[in-house]
Amino acid sequence: MSSSKGPAGRSANAADEGLDASTGTGLTGGSALGTSTALGGEPSNEEVSATVTKGYAPEVRERLERDAKEIIGRYPKPRSALLPLLHLVQSEDGYVSDDGHEFCAEMLGLSKAEVVGVSTFYTMYKRKPMGQYHVGVCINTLCAVMGGDQIWDELSEHAGVGHDETTPDGKVSLERLECNAACDFAPVMMVNWEFFDNQTPASAKQLVDDLRDGKELSPTRGPKKLCTFKEASRVLAGLPDGLAGDGPSANGASLEGLKIAKAKGWKAPEA
Ligand code: FES
Repeated sequence: MSSSKGPAGRSANAADEGLDASTGTGLTGGSALGTSTALGGEPSNEEVSATVTKGYAPEVRERLERDAKEIIGRYPKPRSALLPLLHLVQSEDGYVSDDGHEFCAEMLGLSKAEVVGVSTFYTMYKRKPMGQYHVGVCINTLCAVMGGDQIWDELSEHAGVGHDETTPDGKVSLERLECNAACDFAPVMMVNWEFFDNQTPASAKQLVDDLRDGKELSPTRGPKKLCTFKEASRVLAGLPDGLAGDGPSANGASLEGLKIAKAKGWKAPEA
């Protein structure tokens, strides 16, 4: 579960995202967002306007503050807690909203421009609401050659949505993912950051259909029951759900190299 700089339709820094660093007002109405369709997956000006809200309700704010203070207390400097706090606000809204940016800035003594500059750099922080289930298809080298590219093409067409887009029922969002460090089970998909190993175009389409039909699914590894995207974001904020040790972990293909090394008496060179 690591934040990653994304390759697909995502620019690399705040300046590229149309940020107004001088005023700290975050997203501008300028050209960068205005070209959203061409960029593929970036929200349009209308979508951004529609998602801007007017502050959290008092009870929500109180709860978020309580959680944020617990997280901030783990770090020597408050600003070091920015990444988990962005996950925290994402667990509330399903994306990092305008309110979420402001909340993080306020709690950490940062400008809103500084917060937006970070949240728009990492692809795990979303700029528009995600579905209940965030489905990632690994299209990095090994998964791609083992069928990941084909899975993406067929799944995207089947679901009728593209990168970082959500089905109209709000159930499933799709994302093209880079390597998930699970190449031994390629091609790999993730749902709310839990592994679904050794996929095919047919199994991928069935997986998404089942999620949209509300069926209960178990990841190949990890907890038996899938959490929602918001629940996963809360865990990423550093607030555990108690399920980290549940279910099977690495086995099979992950341990083949170790077995061969042991059988042949291979050892790592001395430092
Ligand atoms: S390339 Fe897909 S998990 Fe490594």
